[in-house]
Amino acid sequence: MSDLKRSLSEVAAAAFQAAGLSPDFGRVTASDRPDLADFQCNGALAAAKSAKRNPREIAEQVVEVLKTDPRLASAEIAGAGFINMRVSDEALSVRAREIAADPRAGAEPLPAPRRVLVDYAGPNVAKPMHVGHLRASIIGESIKRLYRFRGDQVLGDAHFGDWGFQMGLLIVSVGDERGLFDGWISEATGQFVGDEASAQVHLQLLDLGLEDLDRAYPLAAAQAKTDDAFRDRARRATALLQGGADAYRAIWTRFVEVSRVALEREFHALGVDFDLWKGESDANDLIPGMIAELEAKGLLVDDQGARIVRVARPGETKKKKLPDGSVVEVESPDPLLVVSSEGSAMYGTTDLATILDRRQSFDPHLVLYCVDQRQADHFEQVFRAAYLAGYAEPGGLEHIGFGTMNGADGKPFKTRAGGVLKLHDLIEMAREKARERLREAGLGADLTPEVFEDIAHKVGIAALKFADLQNFRGTSYVFDLDRFTSFEGKTGPYLLYQSVRIKSILRKATEQKVVSGPIVVGEPAERDLTLLLDAFEGALSEAYDKKAPNFIAEHAYKLAQTFSKFYAACPILSADEPSVRASRLALAQTTLKQLELALDLLGIEAPERM
Ligand code: ARG
Repeated sequence: MSDLKRSLSEVAAAAFQAAGLSPDFGRVTASDRPDLADFQCNGALAAAKSAKRNPREIAEQVVEVLKTDPRLASAEIAGAGFINMRVSDEALSVRAREIAADPRAGAEPLPAPRRVLVDYAGPNVAKPMHVGHLRASIIGESIKRLYRFRGDQVLGDAHFGDWGFQMGLLIVSVGDERGLFDGWISEATGQFVGDEASAQVHLQLLDLGLEDLDRAYPLAAAQAKTDDAFRDRARRATALLQGGADAYRAIWTRFVEVSRVALEREFHALGVDFDLWKGESDANDLIPGMIAELEAKGLLVDDQGARIVRVARPGETKKKKLPDGSVVEVESPDPLLVVSSEGSAMYGTTDLATILDRRQSFDPHLVLYCVDQRQADHFEQVFRAAYLAGYAEPGGLEHIGFGTMNGADGKPFKTRAGGVLKLHDLIEMAREKARERLREAGLGADLTPEVFEDIAHKVGIAALKFADLQNFRGTSYVFDLDRFTSFEGKTGPYLLYQSVRIKSILRKATEQKVVSGPIVVGEPAERDLTLLLDAFEGALSEAYDKKAPNFIAEHAYKLAQTFSKFYAACPILSADEPSVRASRLALAQTTLKQLELALDLLGIEAPERM
């Protein structure tokens, strides 16, 4: 079983080959003139250019072959050598029945599945999440689902930021606030003072909650910017923590637990669930061995007390402006900083060690890092270092970058107060807007408050996610909750609304005891809908290859629109002929199945009714 675009491409490719030309010219695409054709092939023009032959002549040869394909009602040459194809009603009916019977709604499983790890979301202990984390969560979740659905063995990992400088900042700040350095913990060693201290420190931390971290972190981060002594204390604390100092580990464990519980709950509300919730810290034990190995391989060099890996190849340089205004050529990319002058592991160090950790535990063929485009340089450094060290196969690590979600001012979105957005608040904003929209549209008035809330939640999340996923990920977009939550236009709520509409038709069919039967395609609107159902596989494979869920979003939107036109043109339950009712009902069921699948791959859940 294969989609029409692909199987017609195969026929066209063979025809080009028979004409002595490369089969690559046989690429068939959906027609951009649906009034004239279902599919087109433009290969004759390119083939003519490369073979210095007449395009029409080549097209004629190809068309002769295509004409023998029983599925095509016509194959014709247009203009200078374009080939237009129309599929017969019979062939479309066969394909529609195939999709109807397929639990995967026409999507092919991969011929050669791989092990893929998706590193996404990347929240941090205590640091509030910014829009980059939101996008990483939404895009990463979708990519994870898509890869898994197509057959890869996939693990999604949150890669929790629990090991950097912010941990030292928090230790010092909470330590001061709670008086932990007054006789309980030694700041010089990060160890407990005396026997009783451990119990006392634990007691003092028992009531420490997320609010405390939320409050402490921004203050500490701000203080570190101006207060050198404070910053040095935090740096030392970071190094001691990483070195295994007991008391610091105890405080840190509390921070991690408190943050993780809250974050997981919020992610879950967003429909983002991880298979692994590993942290940067989980790679810590691998770091000493890794450093020894990098050293043995001659990759680690001293740099003013710090240790780095140079990743630029000979001749790779960039211009750099020095503070005195002069310009010098420096190596590019910058070297990867592996050990700071205080002896701490850096962001890149844990990333490199995590590559090793993942290799030992899962041995992925591919690791996709779904992280803000602003970290592109960081990943370039880490990946190059990993390839140099032989920790991954070249090409086995890929940064899936994306643009930002901006405010009306064109800058990365901030709350009205100018703060960083909290996931929790964002979800609540979307939910509130969804409630408003539902009431405006007179929807849900007859529902219980719990059901109404559940629908509002789903509508709000669909609005956020679809708005994000409908653009190619590299594109930045403007946060506009009014537009995102509209029931009309290219929005998540529109898609939910259409899927709910189909569900209601199906419910009515059950009430009226109409049952589905073999699909027979004839009306133009039935043909259009079937052609779209057939295009699902193409959309998924494009999204997969480009790691870009917008192709799924686009397909879902077109499907909903096309169904709407079909339903306007082709009555289902009120059709005269029982066989027509049965066929159209089957088309509606198949559309719903595919639409729900597509939404699920976007991480969007649809309610039963609205
Ligand atoms: N925690 C990081 C941040 O907030 C993102 C982590 C992304 N993943 C990674 N392997 N570096 O910027």
